[in-house]
Amino acid sequence: MEKKLLTLNVNGQDYELYINPKTLLVEAIRDHIGLTGTKRGCDTVSCGACTLMIDGMAIKSCSVLAVQAEGHQITTVEGLEVNGELAPIQKAFIDNGSYQCGFCAPGMIMSAQALLNESKSLTEREIKEGIEGNICRCTGYNSIVRAIDGAAKGKYTEAKS
Ligand code: FES
Ligand code: FES
Repeated sequence: MEKKLLTLNVNGQDYELYINPKTLLVEAIRDHIGLTGTKRGCDTVSCGACTLMIDGMAIKSCSVLAVQAEGHQITTVEGLEVNGELAPIQKAFIDNGSYQCGFCAPGMIMSAQALLNESKSLTEREIKEGIEGNICRCTGYNSIVRAIDGAAKGKYTEAKS
């Protein structure tokens, strides 16, 4: 198939890519741009490891083509920090020991951040529903829920931009 030139805006920076139009967004991010924080788990839109944000909303990047993301703002886990300081949700994950393997954590953090973008007033049920598309095979969900709850309640400071 003929390759296509497209521009993806990732973490505030434009990347020009010359790729097959069938390239998945997760492939473009990892293999062409080189941002490997976004993980590739199941490829069947089940595990959530590939979750990133498009225009602030959580999206499983194995479920969209890279060409569909052109013209939108993509944020990966690498883009959450500001001036080298981690985002509150990242501090919350560290503080609560909410990651283990590091494979599911980036996608979980991106789903959590998208949830916080929608509302900072979250019930436990809303938090659980917000991350239900992300699978942690070690079932460490309680600490993840605690971390999101803490971040929602403003326990962790924003970095200054
Ligand atoms: S790799 Fe996308 S949901 Fe599993
Ligand atoms: S901590 Fe990643 S799968 Fe459980």
